[in-house]
Amino acid sequence: MIEFEKFLQNNLIKNPSFHPYFEKATNEMLLAGGKRFRPMLLLKVVEAYNPLLIEGAYYPALALECLHTYSLIHDDLPAMDDANLRRGHPTLHKTYDEVTAILVGDGLNTYAFELITVSPLHNDIKVALTKELAQNGGLNGMVLGQAIDCYFENKPLNLDEVKFLHIHKTAKLIAASLKMGAIIVNLDKNLQEKLYNFGIDLGLLFQIQDDILDETKSSEEAGKDTHNDGDKNSFVNLLGLQKSIEEADKLANKLEKEFESFDEKLRQNLKPLITKYLKRHKQ
Ligand code: IPE
Ligand code: IPE
Ligand code: MG
Ligand code: MG
Ligand code: MG
Repeated sequence: MIEFEKFLQNNLIKNPSFHPYFEKATNEMLLAGGKRFRPMLLLKVVEAYNPLLIEGAYYPALALECLHTYSLIHDDLPAMDDANLRRGHPTLHKTYDEVTAILVGDGLNTYAFELITVSPLHNDIKVALTKELAQNGGLNGMVLGQAIDCYFENKPLNLDEVKFLHIHKTAKLIAASLKMGAIIVNLDKNLQEKLYNFGIDLGLLFQIQDDILDETKSSEEAGKDTHNDGDKNSFVNLLGLQKSIEEADKLANKLEKEFESFDEKLRQNLKPLITKYLKRHKQ
């Protein structure tokens, strides 16, 4: 049984300073929930190959969630997407202030790497995990994707460029989640790469679906601002809703086929998670 939520609660900031709300704000966004998609991908890979390593794997799993949560807090800032609602709660800068939202994001970003370094895993594994998270979450990953996303508001990109944007802002961290699981259980390099490439397609699908949900869901249903992509290079703005759904279906079918080539135990373990997200744009 994966007890990730308990681990997360035990690793919140426990000793507040004399700042009136900095630590409370940090903990609140983590506790607000979310789907925990990235940590679950990592943990499901570890559980499939070596369940004994699960306890140690909680640290990098939480690292992924911290880095992802930081990206959401910054994504919602007025200078970026200017959103009011996140994970069913007012965005952090609305509840508190922009300074706090910027600094909580910064803090969660560095805390992610601290979590890897203090994990009870071998040092060479920790180095490999650090590299993976930094490369996919940072300057050539999520951060670059967000920079392109924001710079090119109201400047239409072509389909390949939008794919590049989506792969960077979203897919790379999802791909890294699977690969980090593979690193922890020492899978051979080919299988690590195969999982990473599968994760890139899965992450691209995830962001196309997110673009579709922006168009089709209410804020209450999504727990975050929707109909907020008007200025964005979203799939829906580029292709229209119907074509975006078709593109998502195509990618989901491709992923389903790819998935069949994985080991039985990995398929069994990942299946519920993957199946749920292959059809997310139709829920
Ligand atoms: C939202 O990510 C931002 C994207 C990359 C699409 P999630 O949809 O995983 O958000 P949470 O973690 O469930 O809140
Ligand atoms: C955000 O993409 C991707 C991140 C790296 C946070 P979006 O801007 O579409 O995410 P939502 O829709 O606000 O969750
Ligand atoms: Mg955004
Ligand atoms: Mg946004
Ligand atoms: Mg979105």
